[in-house]
Amino acid sequence: MMSDASLKKIWVGIGASAGGPEALASLVRGLPESVGATFIVVQHLAPHHKSILCELIQRETSLRVGEVSDGLSPQPDHIYIAPANHNILVQQGTLVLLPVDPTVGGPTPSIDTFFTSLAQDRGAAAIGVVLSGSGSDGTRGLEAIQAAGGTAIAQDEASARYSGKPLSALQAGNVDLVLSAEAIGQKFTQILAASGQRDRLATLMPPVQHLAEISQLLYTHTNVDFREYKPSTLYRRIERRMAALGLIQVSDYVDVLRNSLAEIDALFREMMVCVTSFFRDPEEFECFRASINEIVQKADGITPLRVWVPGCATGEEVYSIAILFAEAMGGADAIDRSRLQIFASDIDMKALKFGREGLYSADAIAQVPCEYRDRYFEATADGHRVHPNLRDVVLFAEHNLCQDSPFRNLDLVCCRNVLIYFGEDLQHRVMSKIYSALKDSGKLFLGLSESGGAVEDLFARVVGEGKVFNLRAGVEVPVPTFCPDNAAHSSMPMRRPEPQNCTSKSIDGRFAALVQALGPNALIVTAQAQIRSVFGKLTDFIETPVSATQVRNTLRGHLAAEARLLVALTQRAGEMRQTGSLPHPTTAKESVRLLCYPLGADADGDALFLLVIKPLDVDASGGDLVRSREVEEEALLYRIEELEALNEELRTLSEEVHSTNEELQATSDDIEAANEELQSTNEELIAVNEEHQFNAIQMSLAVRELEAILANVSVPLVVVDAELNVVRASSQAQSLLTIPAEVQRPHISECELPPSFPKSLSFLVDVVETGKSHEMDYTLEGVPSALCTVPYRNTRNELMGAVMMIVPKDTQNRNRLPPRLID
Ligand SMILES: C[S@@+](CC[C@H](N)C(=O)[O-])C[C@H]1O[C@@H](n2cnc3c(N)ncnc32)[C@H](O)[C@@H]1O
Repeated sequence: MMSDASLKKIWVGIGASAGGPEALASLVRGLPESVGATFIVVQHLAPHHKSILCELIQRETSLRVGEVSDGLSPQPDHIYIAPANHNILVQQGTLVLLPVDPTVGGPTPSIDTFFTSLAQDRGAAAIGVVLSGSGSDGTRGLEAIQAAGGTAIAQDEASARYSGKPLSALQAGNVDLVLSAEAIGQKFTQILAASGQRDRLATLMPPVQHLAEISQLLYTHTNVDFREYKPSTLYRRIERRMAALGLIQVSDYVDVLRNSLAEIDALFREMMVCVTSFFRDPEEFECFRASINEIVQKADGITPLRVWVPGCATGEEVYSIAILFAEAMGGADAIDRSRLQIFASDIDMKALKFGREGLYSADAIAQVPCEYRDRYFEATADGHRVHPNLRDVVLFAEHNLCQDSPFRNLDLVCCRNVLIYFGEDLQHRVMSKIYSALKDSGKLFLGLSESGGAVEDLFARVVGEGKVFNLRAGVEVPVPTFCPDNAAHSSMPMRRPEPQNCTSKSIDGRFAALVQALGPNALIVTAQAQIRSVFGKLTDFIETPVSATQVRNTLRGHLAAEARLLVALTQRAGEMRQTGSLPHPTTAKESVRLLCYPLGADADGDALFLLVIKPLDVDASGGDLVRSREVEEEALLYRIEELEALNEELRTLSEEVHSTNEELQATSDDIEAANEELQSTNEELIAVNEEHQFNAIQMSLAVRELEAILANVSVPLVVVDAELNVVRASSQAQSLLTIPAEVQRPHISECELPPSFPKSLSFLVDVVETGKSHEMDYTLEGVPSALCTVPYRNTRNELMGAVMMIVPKDTQNRNRLPPRLID
């Protein structure tokens, strides 16, 4: 690969749209003076837009900048900009311009089209860079460059004003290197040296780039955005996983993550530091008790007090708070949902489930002050269960503190040991969210190591009460943004694989002999009563054609319910169970009996059961018409447990509905507020836009006037910048100094100065360096004249260059010049 690249000079295609000029300027600013590569920039432009990109970019670099022309053979150390309304191709070392076909949609010039032809023509000697912009133009092009052995680079999300374009390429998996635009320029020499070699390119990426991709993978699969968590936190968790897998290079770990959902899950679990305990930091809780008493005393007794505990983990903290409220209200029996509602939220579903159960070990309970243990916990065979009234006032809900809308109208937020994981910006946003969620009289309880600007701008510490804060009423906070999803993230190509099912063919083979022995009519079902296989003639018993479906949908009438119950009883007993005699579902003369045998697990670990349907003769069945009492009792017990579980499920469901309701209400408030904000921003934008339009008209008038002056002024006049490049020249000066028309901003030394002109241009250098004017005698076409050079400055009074002109000495003529130029 490298041999090809080193034989040919490298060509670098740079594609960009919105935010592109800024990124491009940062990139070229970092480039060394002599690179040895050729740069071709394809910036999306409106079809008839006259771009000033050449001039903008020329200001930032000493490399030559010019516009692409049809048939151009580009040179190294030059930057070429594609013109508007054309697509651009590379063909045998030259650039070809194709007028845009207006009937074909899509942005122009097309980055994909250019990159693809660049890949075909230059192979491994092609580098593609996708900078800021939205949409996906460039993604396919980078793929072509990579496939040809070249190098694909994307601007990083943090430095791109619009990150859609680079992210699209990144998500498609076609990028070798992700860097800020500035770093692409600064590291260009190393990039050239490593070009086409993925391993070497990867070493140029700082770990933070790996963090970005890892966060991206986590987001795609868990919907939790860790990008704004502290990099150090993320990195530590990643290191732990790397150590567990025996990996040294982060890039290797990224490879594992790209290919393993199990590892993504493992890292996600590692990220959720679920450490907690009852009355964690007891002194803090002691101080906090006073605040809770105050909140309870001030309550109006009509509306319930509302508390939010985000990042509640497994519930110990939230029950500790509930105990303090119960104490302040008169004990466990004095609390119910009409007096107190506590929303406990977390992103860790397993932790929430644990909290909902409210069952804790003796070790966990040891942290609870003795006086509360008996009053608020009940010892059971499985552990210590929280008092039902405590459990009842707490509503556990899955909720992301950073991405979801907050609960509202709160008297207290207890957010402990969560903020510590967030980066500074995220802390500020979360604090604004909490601030907007609290009532004016609201209080905030934080963890021991949480405070700082994000907190103290909005909250004032309550003296003598540890980490308890009062809300500072009247502070303007930005409308908290609600971001349920991020479209850019959602298109990652990785998918969860479908679970593999054991085929009915293999089941049939294994159990055919057993079925023959036990009776011809049978089904193999799972513990959830899903049918896996059918044996014998079951048309009398089955309602619909059987596929992998539930027993209750396929067995006729009452048989379905009996079969489900029997499977559950068999699973619990671990041995054969049978029903009594049951009416035949289709013929009144016969009856049947169901027998269920446990078969062990299939390859996926699903327990399987053989359900045999035995026809009985009504007369022969005699005393067997009723089920044995033992089985009947078992069945009853099972039904009771099923109802209890259902009850619990309903309760969880109702809690979730309740919390979703709250969230929806909050979201609707947010949207309304955001809408108003947008409307006013829109109005401001319209005003700013009008102003810009006005300025643009003024500017274009000024440029026209200047051009008219330069075309008509009767003396040679040249404007040079601080590097002595010719910026503007009157028509007289153009012919006198032979200024090359085809070069953008040629250096004064590139002009063919007349023999009469001073050999040394040191006077010109002096003027731009010292800011002092200079004048010398000069004879122009036999007329005694003066060669006057005056400096010019920008509005900040910084030296920008010089104006050089040849003025006849005759005073009459001299007075015709604008006085500013004479000065
Ligand atoms: C160290 S525990 C703190 C538990 C408890 N607040 C305490 O202080 O004992 C941090 C908890 O924050 C949760 N967490 C992390 N990021 C979160 C987020 N964005 N939204 C909600 N919970 C989050 C974790 O899942 C974890 O359960």
